[in-house]
Amino acid sequence: METRFHGYTFTSDPGRVFAPRAATEQLVDAALERIGDGPARIADIGTGSGAIAITLALRAPLVELWASDTCARALELAKGNAERLGARVHLVKGDLLDGLPRDLDLIVANLPYLSADAQGYEHEPAAAVFSTGDGLDHYRRLIAGAGDHLSADGGVLIQFEGKVLEAERSELPWLRSQLESLVAAA
Ligand SMILES: C[S@@+](CC[C@H](N)C(=O)[O-])C[C@H]1O[C@@H](n2cnc3c(N)ncnc32)[C@H](O)[C@@H]1O
Repeated sequence: METRFHGYTFTSDPGRVFAPRAATEQLVDAALERIGDGPARIADIGTGSGAIAITLALRAPLVELWASDTCARALELAKGNAERLGARVHLVKGDLLDGLPRDLDLIVANLPYLSADAQGYEHEPAAAVFSTGDGLDHYRRLIAGAGDHLSADGGVLIQFEGKVLEAERSELPWLRSQLESLVAAA
């Protein structure tokens, strides 16, 4: 199947790999706005079909991109999409930030954030949408590890329930509490 994202066509595999959503285009826009025209080092965590990382690589040619996922099929799709669209992205199979550089300017992520009792996601791959506990454990772990992988003026952009949350390296504790407030208020 093919899915349009930010003006590009991505091959997707519904039911096995999360198909990119229009709502996530705002994460790409926020990343492009943050980095401007210059060089930067960015990692996309939980890349799925590669839509975020590949779009950033195409729209910001001076940026070096890494993209990680635990799902072999997702990385296979991302590799095919990158080759077809002519994007250069370092694909890494691993948990969150494992194997990624330690001097990134930006970490972007659209990770699983639903708790196991969320209804209506039967057609999505469970590992792509559900996290443990209240649903925030993937993001808690990402935030806990992000400081070690960011340059001093680096930052994080994450997608959460249709919103993009942004934090500087010094604001990571705030980002965690912001997510927990949003979940508590839901
Ligand atoms: C909601 S999907 C988003 C996919 C893609 N970023 C997008 O926006 O279309 C979450 C992705 O995170 C991946 N994932 C889940 N657990 C992970 C982990 N511990 N480390 C890295 N990726 C993970 C899933 O395999 C899935 O591809």
